[in-house]
Amino acid sequence: MNLSMAIFYGSSTGNTELAAEKIKEQLGEFVEQMADVRDADPADLLNYDLIFFGVSTWNIGEMQDDWADFIPKMKALDLTGKKVAFFAMGDAEGYPYNFLDAMGELWGVVKELGTPELIGVWPTEGYTFDESQALYDENHFLGLGLDEDNEADLTEDRIHAWLVKVMQDAGLFEGV
Ligand SMILES: Cc1cc2nc3c(=O)[nH]c(=O)nc-3n(C[C@H](O)[C@H](O)[C@H](O)COP(=O)(O)O)c2cc1C
Repeated sequence: MNLSMAIFYGSSTGNTELAAEKIKEQLGEFVEQMADVRDADPADLLNYDLIFFGVSTWNIGEMQDDWADFIPKMKALDLTGKKVAFFAMGDAEGYPYNFLDAMGELWGVVKELGTPELIGVWPTEGYTFDESQALYDENHFLGLGLDEDNEADLTEDRIHAWLVKVMQDAGLFEGV
């Protein structure tokens, strides 16, 4: 199966951008577009089968600024038939009651744009936090959780392991 892929991210200090770059590096030519939502065209989201959404949380549980500006521009899109995968950057030590909250808010928006399929939900095991709006269920985040402030050494391996899961969920990696 051939899936076209793109990464859309917002990043205030460059940490989510770094994660987006690592994802692109690991997926190579499969990624046809990497876009900072600060200057992206929302209609471009319609060009791909699998869309990665990268977001950080700011101001105690709030959406990253560029996403906050971009979200209203997405409202007319229909993402039915598309697979969507989320990765999120946060600080579990500094904001343990709001860890990765913006990922939950962004999925709340994206899931209303037709009926996209969420893939790449990720175990919360191995993360230390108290509360998060980014939970899929009791034991999973909606997507990959990253913490460049406290666990930067884990970012690369987490991304790698998550991408295997995403590709499995997307039906690209039977039997891995
Ligand atoms: C003022 C401030 C508020 C923050 N609030 C949260 C928060 O509520 N939840 C969280 O998980 N991280 C929070 N963070 C941490 C950032 O999400 C983290 O530093 C992230 O790596 C920034 O990514 P970016 O550079 O891609 O925007 C906050 C950081 C700052 C400085």
